[in-house]
Amino acid sequence: MHSVQTKNRQFTPVQAGAPLNWRMPPFVHLKNAEPYKREEGESMRINIGYFTSTGNTLWLALKAQEIMEQQGHAVKLYEIINDQNAFVEDECDLTGFFYPVWGSNPPDPMVEFRQNMPEGNGKKIFLIGNCCALYGDTGFHWKKIMDKKGYDVFYTNHFIMPTNFNLPFEPENYWKRVPLEAERNKILSKAEKKIPNVCADILKGKKNLDGTGPIARLEGALQRETYWIGSGYKSHFSINKERCIDCGLCYRMCPSENISINVNGDKVFGNKCMLCVKCYNLCPVNAVLICEKSIDDKKYRRYKGPSSEIKPVEYRK
Ligand SMILES: Cc1cc2nc3c(=O)[nH]c(=O)nc-3n(C[C@H](O)[C@H](O)[C@H](O)COP(=O)(O)O)c2cc1C
Ligand code: SF4
Ligand code: SF4
Repeated sequence: MHSVQTKNRQFTPVQAGAPLNWRMPPFVHLKNAEPYKREEGESMRINIGYFTSTGNTLWLALKAQEIMEQQGHAVKLYEIINDQNAFVEDECDLTGFFYPVWGSNPPDPMVEFRQNMPEGNGKKIFLIGNCCALYGDTGFHWKKIMDKKGYDVFYTNHFIMPTNFNLPFEPENYWKRVPLEAERNKILSKAEKKIPNVCADILKGKKNLDGTGPIARLEGALQRETYWIGSGYKSHFSINKERCIDCGLCYRMCPSENISINVNGDKVFGNKCMLCVKCYNLCPVNAVLICEKSIDDKKYRRYKGPSSEIKPVEYRK
């Protein structure tokens, strides 16, 4: 059994091939196409796996896809839970992962995916994280794990995006406040300016590793070790019945299928929450609460995502 970096996590890692928590089928094989040896002007098949809670990661991945396709490459995006079969089966020249930083780790489904990846045989990988402030050594730490499996992680980089981690805790909503529209747009436009350069470097096969300095390494280690502290909030989810309009979105979009609907039609939280805060942020009427005080949604703002064009990923009907 592999060990994890964090303690007290709801989801413990599993051995390769064992049944997975996320409805993921046992890992089959990440098909290895020819190693990355692109001639000048030759196009590549690039497969990108992503996980997003409130849409920032998908927004970035879609922008990158567009830019890379404009350069003549074939780029496919795979949602790490829904499209896992296709992601592991489809051959490509280059694999990328787009992910939000969760306490200097990728989100739990990606940690699990990573653990179950087979030998890499030199396959080229790039890792693009995004966070609201601190990414520590997330990419570099991931690279070290992948290197041991024989992958060649040649590129890691991060974007700063608006926060979605707005637990109802003062000061500053525990972490950072969800930005208002003008501030959100400023953050997004900064990210948008950075994307073409990041894509150009990846396509050139340029090496880039971020989070390698001693401060980033320390920050990463500390965040991974203390990340479990937030897990207390997992048991404080509830739904305000007066607000709820019974749209069922929270039930459909929860990545761990932690929300069920009982015989009375009430939404009930189970014990599989991974604190992605997606239901809390994206409920259209802010009926999902974390602790009673979050009923004050002016004080405890919800993050509705980077654009209304990015719809929440759904996992069941
Ligand atoms: C569980 C959780 C943990 C997070 N941890 C961090 C963190 O360690 N550092 C950081 O800067 N942002 C952190 N964030 C903020 C997100 O990384 C950031 O808002 C990201 O852009 C969200 O992407 P998404 O909309 O694709 O889910 C965290 C968010 C969540 C939900
Ligand atoms: S998303 Fe919100 S409104 Fe819709 S069912 Fe869930 S709690 Fe109710
Ligand atoms: S219950 Fe809400 S916060 Fe927990 S995993 Fe499901 S969507 Fe995410």
